[in-house]
Amino acid sequence: MTDNSASADLGDFLARYAQRCNEHLEQWLVEPGVPEGLAAAMRYCVMNGGKRLRPGLVQMAGELGTDGDPDLTARAGAAVELVHCYSLVHDDLPAMDDDVLRRGRPTAHVQFGEAMAILAGDALLTRAFSLLTESGSARAGRLVLELGRCAGPAGMIAGQVADMKLCDVPEGLEGVTYIHLRKTAALLKASAAMGGVSAALTDPDIDALGQYGQALGLAFQVFDDILDVTADAGTLGKTPGKDADSDKRTIVAQLGLDGARKLGKDLSDQAVAALDGFGRRAEKLLHLANLLTKRTH
Ligand code: IPE
Ligand code: IPE
Ligand code: MG
Ligand code: MG
Ligand code: MG
Repeated sequence: MTDNSASADLGDFLARYAQRCNEHLEQWLVEPGVPEGLAAAMRYCVMNGGKRLRPGLVQMAGELGTDGDPDLTARAGAAVELVHCYSLVHDDLPAMDDDVLRRGRPTAHVQFGEAMAILAGDALLTRAFSLLTESGSARAGRLVLELGRCAGPAGMIAGQVADMKLCDVPEGLEGVTYIHLRKTAALLKASAAMGGVSAALTDPDIDALGQYGQALGLAFQVFDDILDVTADAGTLGKTPGKDADSDKRTIVAQLGLDGARKLGKDLSDQAVAALDGFGRRAEKLLHLANLLTKRTH
């Protein structure tokens, strides 16, 4: 890895990890027997320039161990990214956020129609889990459990249900935090913890990584809400202003831009504090938490 202290941009910092993740995804995404049209849609939804923050997080957490399994870490990173990509495809559907732009390109349902977009999302989600178990590793079961819980109905899906106002959540900041914890922070928590599991870290270390990932995830969604207000489509790769148009419960609506920025910085500091026990070993994860507060897309 390059000297991270010189990298001022999140994308630049993640680039090496992203390149490695892209190679793994190329290799594992499509199994034999997948119909050609579905395979094309799956590739479109995945091989399209995402930042690869979550697999980067898996890798950085995995680097904290000395007894790691590189194949398992790679599979964990790819699996988390597939779950993330599926969540974006479904998040963009007309019945949900109804977005036409994602990662600078037409969304999957615009490109392939709604039925194929839904099915490609289903395919990415299921492929994530077979990818983990195909490793044959004794630790694969724990990774499946972690990912299934965080991305499942008490995790990311609960957050999406709340975001779509399909269940009751508390008023005010408490409710927005409920949504953010689940729809976004749960998968970042899973990523950090899964890196720790694949590197055979101790349970307390895995817990600390989970706390880091969760605080980082909350900060990440705070800045996602900020960028929806402040960024332009060219930089963002998605249509800005959608949250206000759709009357979403966001941190900016709750606290205003300055309040949201302060909260994002506080959450990034909380993430850093969770890594205390690792000392300098966790330098990359510390740098990542810092860069997140400066992201532009
Ligand atoms: C966007 O995530 C969706 C959120 C959970 C906020 P990213 O900003 O990581 O999206 P990509 O993967 O880089 O496109
Ligand atoms: C997305 O949140 C969360 C998931 C996809 C699980 P948003 O709806 O805020 O994400 P963007 O802004 O469309 O990327
Ligand atoms: Mg959404
Ligand atoms: Mg959305
Ligand atoms: Mg958003």
